[in-house]
Amino acid sequence: MPALVLLGAQWGDEGKGKATDLLGGSVDYVVRYQGGNNAGHTVVVGDQKYALHLLPSGILSPGCTPVIGNGVVVDPSVLLSELSGLNERGVDTSKLLISGNAHIITPYNVTVDKVTERFLGKRKIGTTGRGIGPTYADKINRVGIRVQDLYDESILTQKVEAALDVKNQMLTKLYNRRAIAVEQVVEELLGYADKLAPYVADTVLVLNEALEQDKVVLFEGGQGTLLDIDHGTYPFVTSSNPTAGGACTGAGVGPTKISRVIGILKAYTTRVGAGPFPTELFDEDGEALRRIGGERGVTTGRDRRCGWFDAVIARYATRVNGLTDFFLTKLDVLTGWEQIPVCVAYEIDGRRVEELPYSQTDFHHAKPVYEMLPGWNEDISKAKSFSDLPKNAQAYVKALEEMSGAPISAIGVGPGRTETIEINSFL
Ligand code: GDP
Ligand code: IMO
Ligand code: MG
Repeated sequence: MPALVLLGAQWGDEGKGKATDLLGGSVDYVVRYQGGNNAGHTVVVGDQKYALHLLPSGILSPGCTPVIGNGVVVDPSVLLSELSGLNERGVDTSKLLISGNAHIITPYNVTVDKVTERFLGKRKIGTTGRGIGPTYADKINRVGIRVQDLYDESILTQKVEAALDVKNQMLTKLYNRRAIAVEQVVEELLGYADKLAPYVADTVLVLNEALEQDKVVLFEGGQGTLLDIDHGTYPFVTSSNPTAGGACTGAGVGPTKISRVIGILKAYTTRVGAGPFPTELFDEDGEALRRIGGERGVTTGRDRRCGWFDAVIARYATRVNGLTDFFLTKLDVLTGWEQIPVCVAYEIDGRRVEELPYSQTDFHHAKPVYEMLPGWNEDISKAKSFSDLPKNAQAYVKALEEMSGAPISAIGVGPGRTETIEINSFL
């Protein structure tokens, strides 16, 4: 058995952190396989709230080994401050493993991310400004710096030189910024080497050996399906593959090892940053979802754009990820509406379309076709089983399940670990 993937089925912020943390107690390894500290995962344990960016949410479960896989981009200063923040709160982080092949977010790539966005002006992506895109670009251009480079000063210097050769031309001539000195970057990066050394490992070997020994490995996606560089709403996406295939390349585990793929699905939809969003609301309903759902970014503090549930997107997520289950989150946020609109299809230039169009022009023109489902007023935050839910909430869940193409195996009714209804066990 069993390697499980847990990923976002929409545009991120679906509640992946909470879902991972919930399973963390029963799994041996939790692995981040892509993205970096653009992620913001909130986990509530008892009366304690944790905001994690780079570390896998499994770090909060004592028996679990957290792993940062080769597909992740690592900002060492963020990583070290996240670790010390947790240590100060009594969390043991000593089991953490970091792939030596993971790429490093260098200070110049944080600069490049910010100046590129400024240069794009109105056409900006609305990135988190954490250097994610430029770091993945360097990786693909084969001028990236990897964690293992910190342990060979000569190689590190050559690589930083190669990367800065071009970047400094760009920064000074195009963006009117000061050139960045190679020595300064090398010195900063070398300063992280000893602090990170205890964690650096051959994570591919560790994870594959663990699977051979029947250990349970959970892959935790950052971002979400519609932010995927290949399958998302390009160019308004992140620069990695949060979809299920990314778990294989980003951790070095073959697809035959993966037994379950769980899509985390919010009972409505949110998005941060620019890009199309058919069910987005600009009225008081959108405001209410934002307020009740606390829809403010964990990483950048930006208000999240809010809208109704979109079943077209959920079906798409089922397909491109091969989802076996959904974990429906934040159902409690919908309490109090008389009727809840659910987008069942799009109308595109007068045609009814049931599946996500591959054409960006069509998607930009997509207008939601809504079906109205009856709402409920009862407080559902104490519900422990499906039958505890009011009839209309049960019907809402069943309708979403039918439209989305995979069973809803758990339902979130509050932010806390225990505020979850488990329908089918994930393990
Ligand atoms: P992630 O990026 O997917 O991990 O999600 P975020 O942590 O960015 O955003 C999800 C937010 O919803 C967090 O504040 C969670 O504490 C909260 N949350 C998760 N599940 C539930 C739920 O079922 N109900 C409510 N009310 N809040 C939830
Ligand atoms: P979690 O893991 C929501 C969005 C940014 C921007 C786009 C590209 O918390 O779900 P980037 O900095 O990655 O180059 O920005 O992607 N984005 C997220 N939106 N949740 C996230 O992570 C996100 N990570 C990136 O807002 O639109
Ligand atoms: Mg988030």
